[in-house]
Amino acid sequence: MTDTIPSIDLIDALAAEYADKSPSEILELALNQQGEVAISFSGAEDVVLIDMAYRLRKPFRVFSLDTGRLHPETYQFLEAVRKFYKIDIEICFPESEAVQKLVTEKGMFSFFADGHQECCGVRKVQPLRKKLATLDGWITGQRKDQSPGTRNEIPVIQADAGFSGPGKQLIKYNPLANWSSTDVWNYIRMMEIPYNPLHERGFISIGCEPCTRAVLPNQHEREGRWWWEEATHKECGLHAGNLKK
Ligand code: ADX
Ligand code: SF4
Repeated sequence: MTDTIPSIDLIDALAAEYADKSPSEILELALNQQGEVAISFSGAEDVVLIDMAYRLRKPFRVFSLDTGRLHPETYQFLEAVRKFYKIDIEICFPESEAVQKLVTEKGMFSFFADGHQECCGVRKVQPLRKKLATLDGWITGQRKDQSPGTRNEIPVIQADAGFSGPGKQLIKYNPLANWSSTDVWNYIRMMEIPYNPLHERGFISIGCEPCTRAVLPNQHEREGRWWWEEATHKECGLHAGNLKK
């Protein structure tokens, strides 16, 4: 961890300077940041971040949140990526007591009745908070085109409003913010890198197995996530700062 706390003004200035730079340039800046920085890898098309980091020939860290509810294909893909790039993937698990309490009191599918926030809080957000407490910056695969209602304004670099604590300013990098899904898939095909086989079966956005489904042609990718809920507020808490107050 670094002793110097980057000011919000400095982060905003970097965001303006890098607004039109390529994902790889933004990623390089992130990997050069002082302190500990890691790529947050969901096991979907954000694999392009790992590939770009690998090609920059700099040391980089990757972590994944294992909610316990991912598809078997996603677990297999995480393993394929680990072997392909010969990297460690730091797997973050939820607190067992919190999961146990939730499923004992409300069952394994409480999110269909109560909304996804509580389960995501236990299985994703709390483990992410624990991980981010050990980091100075994190790199995500968020893109503007992923969620018109919540992500259309995300900058390529931002002061993380959700997970910075007292005396600590976490920096969040979104190198793919300005890329479209087409750009990402052109990259995956051109570089011939591994991808999650669920993408061959109509899945675009991939999260947990019970809360993700394939979409029909021309349906927006976000419609395959938490489809039983209000379409404009689909953030699970990992990127809650995207929701307008
Ligand atoms: S989510 O908030 O709706 O679940 P989404 O699936 O769009 O997020 O992914 C956006 C980015 O969030 C990913 O590129 C990745 O950086 C991060 N992310 C999402 N899920 C995970 C996960 N299980 N583990 C690590 N990072 C994740
Ligand atoms: Fe729970 Fe669904 Fe959220 Fe996964 S996406 S943590 S299963 S509510």
